[in-house]
Amino acid sequence: MTQTVKLASRVFHGIRWSPRLIASLGSLRGIPGPSMPSFLAELFCKGGLSRLHDLQVQGAARFGPVWSASFGTLRTVYVAAPALVEQVLRQEGPCPERCSFSSWAEHRRRHQRACGLLTAEGGEWQRLRSLLAPLLLRPPAAAGYAETLDSVVRDLVRRLKSQRGRGTGPPNLVRNVAGEFYKFGLEGIAAVLLGSRLGCLEAEVPPDTETFIRAVGSVFVSTLLTMAMPSWMHRLVPGPWDRLCRDWDQMFAFAQQHVEQREGEVTMRSPGKPTKGPSSGPHLTYFLFREKLPLQSIVGNVTELLLAGVDTVSNTLSWALYELSRHPEVQCALHSEITAALGPGSCARVQSTALSRLPLLKAVVKEVLRLYPVVPGNSRVPDKDIHVGDYVIPKNTLVSLCHYATSRDLSQFPEPNSFHPARWLGEGPAPHPFASLPFGFGKRSCMGRRLAELELQMALTQILTHFEVLPEPDAPPVRPMTRTVLVPERSINLQFVDR
Ligand code: HEM
Repeated sequence: MTQTVKLASRVFHGIRWSPRLIASLGSLRGIPGPSMPSFLAELFCKGGLSRLHDLQVQGAARFGPVWSASFGTLRTVYVAAPALVEQVLRQEGPCPERCSFSSWAEHRRRHQRACGLLTAEGGEWQRLRSLLAPLLLRPPAAAGYAETLDSVVRDLVRRLKSQRGRGTGPPNLVRNVAGEFYKFGLEGIAAVLLGSRLGCLEAEVPPDTETFIRAVGSVFVSTLLTMAMPSWMHRLVPGPWDRLCRDWDQMFAFAQQHVEQREGEVTMRSPGKPTKGPSSGPHLTYFLFREKLPLQSIVGNVTELLLAGVDTVSNTLSWALYELSRHPEVQCALHSEITAALGPGSCARVQSTALSRLPLLKAVVKEVLRLYPVVPGNSRVPDKDIHVGDYVIPKNTLVSLCHYATSRDLSQFPEPNSFHPARWLGEGPAPHPFASLPFGFGKRSCMGRRLAELELQMALTQILTHFEVLPEPDAPPVRPMTRTVLVPERSINLQFVDR
């Protein structure tokens, strides 16, 4: 049972216990919350582990905007009102801590690997952040990858055509679109980071790419298993920890092989040439070599960015097309907006700038991320005591930000469970700016935001230009499920009918 409690705790909070966090116990009296037995009953007797996002909504309805729950000596404070989420985030220090994925950081330490931006903390994180932000996050930098992404999007359209009508069902049906978009996500982020095409969208996927894809899928499972165990147990029951290390080592080996190829190309170039990478277009690895970041650090960052860029984009694209297929009037209006804005023959870079100005396209992406935030709950560990509503939360307390609950809050969004992109186009009063926060906020916010938005806009544009997207006949609605990130609870099958 103890093991189960720890698993629940760590799955729920995405962290491992630390003495510093435990120290906050006892100073949070007065905050309402469930008793430990009732919380455990929710998690284990009612399938709560895959409904963690729903538990946020239930918690807010039952206890109000701030509540806390304990497992053993660890106590977490949950915050589920936009104004209070803002209050937490505006009190951040210079190096905000999320305190997630500490078993990944442990892997880097034990295997002498360099941390990337996801796992780095403190001064190391700050240095990496200021190096990467101008190369990825600034809008002109992201737009610089448009041509690279354009060729990947064209391959996706070709791939969707070739996947139609396999198996039973209507001739234009593509089964499990999330699987196709997963390959697209990996191909896209690899092209941006490494300038190389992995071949994920080809009929035959190269064996090393297959290994990488398997390792990415497996690492989320091995992460959960290792988080359920204290470090000393890794020696007694080595299986899960060995699996986590094997997964990460395979991903690092894959990234290292590609980064070293790029290193050879970069050193062969004479200085003073244009800033394009020597492979298929400008790529991040090239820029990082130019900035003289050590090889091991480049490998650590590329590996973590590859991981961060796949599930996020692919799940969002799946939900977007799922909702558009069920709302033909929105799809039709969006198709008209796209065709009116994009003249034939305009180049990818011009298109990328034009796309970012299309109001309905932007509203559709915002609405999809409101309904299905890939990261349904985020966290912070404040480095000083902070005020949240009527409470003072002591420093080093784990504060969980319930983004899924705030983005489905009726007081912010009328008909909160309906897909209604027009709500972002000035129809009705504007929601609180922290009600829907899919990319996080502040110094530690998503590094891939601009790139992800560009990828999503480009993919949606090309798909809707080529196809009318229809639902699978008689398919029941698909609900979200938590599996570290928010994913569809079963396959989404869609029809792609030529226009
Ligand atoms: C729809 C797509 C995406 C969503 C919704 C998303 C969401 C998020 C969120 C919520 C965070 C935590 C922010 C915080 O703590 O305030 C985050 C962090 C991060 N994301 Fe994304 N992400 C997406 C795509 C990407 C892509 C494509 C990349 C890679 C280029 C990426 C790389 C990262 C990195 C490196 C961090 C850690 C930043 C740091 O700790 O400084 N993300 N993302």
